[in-house]
Amino acid sequence: MTTSTAAPDIRVDDLLDEGGSDSMAENVRAGLAAEPKQLPPWCLYDERGSALFDRITELPEYYPTRCERAILNRYAPEIVASTGAEELLELGSGVASKTRALLYAMAGAGTLRRYVPFDVDATVVERSAEELTTLYPGLAVHGVVGDFERHIEDLPEPAGRRLVAFLGGTIGNLGPPERAEMLARLRSLLRPDDRLLLGADLVKDPSVIVAAYDDSRGMTRTFTANALRVLNRELGADFELDAFEPFARWDEAHQRVELGLLARSAQRVRFAGLDGLEVAFAAGEKLLTEISSKFTRARLEHELVEAGFRLERLLSDEDDLFSVSVAVPEEAR
Ligand SMILES: C[S@@+](CC[C@H](N)C(=O)[O-])C[C@H]1O[C@@H](n2cnc3c(N)ncnc32)[C@H](O)[C@@H]1O
Repeated sequence: MTTSTAAPDIRVDDLLDEGGSDSMAENVRAGLAAEPKQLPPWCLYDERGSALFDRITELPEYYPTRCERAILNRYAPEIVASTGAEELLELGSGVASKTRALLYAMAGAGTLRRYVPFDVDATVVERSAEELTTLYPGLAVHGVVGDFERHIEDLPEPAGRRLVAFLGGTIGNLGPPERAEMLARLRSLLRPDDRLLLGADLVKDPSVIVAAYDDSRGMTRTFTANALRVLNRELGADFELDAFEPFARWDEAHQRVELGLLARSAQRVRFAGLDGLEVAFAAGEKLLTEISSKFTRARLEHELVEAGFRLERLLSDEDDLFSVSVAVPEEAR
């Protein structure tokens, strides 16, 4: 693990450099052998990918960020008052722009002690640490660069009552078994007075959903295609960027959007960083980069309960497009 301290109140631990690149490469190898072929999320979020995602969140048709921000701006003081949170731990924190409503409410309540941003992209962790310590003098930030599917157990010890935020609908990027495992891990991380704040996108008219992921400016297509640049750079792959066509489509049966790339023609791609692995793509074959699952209230509650939580509140925006749940860890059964 590398630890850096840019300023007296900032510390950033990098857990990815502990054999991380090997296991990340192995994740890619496993994904390329799957049917359909798929990539792990870190392939989307390098510095360029995070910046592209940030621009997507500002598009008028990308309702998740707008709606989740409205929910947090409206309810943050109540959430903070009811949880007494002293520390905000945020998984998949990104640029942490919506997080500010929570930190602001914690500062207003006089309980704010520490912010722990956790993301696979080091650039966003470092940037948000610097921005937020400037905004809140005296705030301690302990950033963690890691993979929340592998490093949750290596988080810093709590500095007080914890609010664990998992926002942006990121939980929907996991398939049902991975989601169940992730929620159960989160449950085991929480002590009785801690709370989980879970942002999840709701089932709605599919045309609204598809417009958000297949935007008119093609920003999401650029974001998806960025995964190929990341693989070329990190794993010495020889993808021809123009040989794949980004797509976004609604999968009614699984109630989720699928994003990925379609091979425009039959081709072979070589990965120097995977011992020269050669991967064949048939014409029209799909390489899945992301899923984004949408939830009914009943399904959200069911999954939380199955993981050992009680759903205390389920908040939504005025158009009922997006949800933020406050979940309480139940006593171990
Ligand atoms: C959909 S974005 C949400 C960002 C931010 N929370 C928001 O609400 O705007 C997902 C974030 O999770 C991060 N991420 C994705 N997979 C991850 C993983 N396995 N471990 C850690 N971070 C991950 C990405 O880098 C990205 O910042």
